[in-house]
Amino acid sequence: VAPMASKALGVSSARSFTGTAPAQNKVTVVGAAGGIGQPMSLLMKLGGKIDHLSLFDIVNTPGVAADISHCNSKGKVTGHKGAEEMATALDGADVVVIPAGVPRKPGMTRDDLFNTNASIVKGIAEQCAKSCPKACFLIISNPVNSTVPIFADVLKANGVYNPQKLMGVTTLDVCRAKTFVAENQGMDVDKVDVTVIGGHAGTTIMPLLSQVEGAKFSEEDIKALTHRIQFGGDEVVQAKDGAGSATLSMAHAGAYFADKVLDGLNGVEGVKECTFVDCDLTDAPFFASPCTLGKDGVSKIHGFSGLSTFEQALVDDNVSALVKMAQKGSDFVKNN
Ligand code: NAI
Repeated sequence: VAPMASKALGVSSARSFTGTAPAQNKVTVVGAAGGIGQPMSLLMKLGGKIDHLSLFDIVNTPGVAADISHCNSKGKVTGHKGAEEMATALDGADVVVIPAGVPRKPGMTRDDLFNTNASIVKGIAEQCAKSCPKACFLIISNPVNSTVPIFADVLKANGVYNPQKLMGVTTLDVCRAKTFVAENQGMDVDKVDVTVIGGHAGTTIMPLLSQVEGAKFSEEDIKALTHRIQFGGDEVVQAKDGAGSATLSMAHAGAYFADKVLDGLNGVEGVKECTFVDCDLTDAPFFASPCTLGKDGVSKIHGFSGLSTFEQALVDDNVSALVKMAQKGSDFVKNN
């Protein structure tokens, strides 16, 4: 894709003046100084596809930005610190990736983060609605099953909600699924694809192992692998022993997914990834499934079919939990 023809116009205005898709690549990371934010921003800078990588956090972003900016790959890096610099950080962004908020400690579920992270995500959504309402929003902050509905409701309240552009990042579940399946089957990890549907917490994470091409699982394997994919995050939380949750693997997953969203925005065809989106696949208002990523964000939600009895039971057992977690997010926005 050709570099931006006119920086002065800003990416959004350039988009509306041209018939062909211009490069769309200002990416803002919100929570950029954190455990995920720093390595994810580094990977994005090294990816070389971003014209302007804008790093925002309430602390430490000038240092992180100065440091990453010395990497000799394409793209400008700017750092913005504190609430008063948030609007500038977000202005004209095409993609906003959000790993802001507290991570888990041993013994915590993602839902235990709700009280702290709900208000952080709500505040970020309010500023995004004002500063970059047309951006794609990629939500990493947990509990994703509730923070995505919170983000949606804030955008709705501001009259700027576009369901095609709001995505809960479930890529780490897919990364774990591919890794664990490849190990179990002795397959080349680069060639393994696993669809993971549902949500991003415990049993709401539902890998469709019956659909992995070229794999042959025993019934025990299916149960053990499914459980490991669903609770893989706990392995990291326990190993880190109080120092947080997955940051490096999440940085990889987040940078990878943002890269795919950018590819779609920039006109690459056939980009397909699992992500947690507004849809009517089940009774839950948001559900993850394979989606095609296009010039306007999610261009097609593929849904799921042909589930094994085991997988169908997982879906049947978990939709109500997803409904509740989404409702908890919506109630928070209503009452605050
Ligand atoms: P961290 O504590 O290392 O970093 C979080 C960063 O967010 C900090 O730098 C903090 O200053 C910043 N922050 C807090 N409030 C903010 C605000 N209002 N605006 C901008 N920045 C703000 O945490 P870590 O490990 O990076 O995790 C971040 C989040 O990602 C957690 O909620 C965690 O549960 C979630 N997570 C999600 C995963 C997923 O698969 N979706 C996987 C792993 C973690």
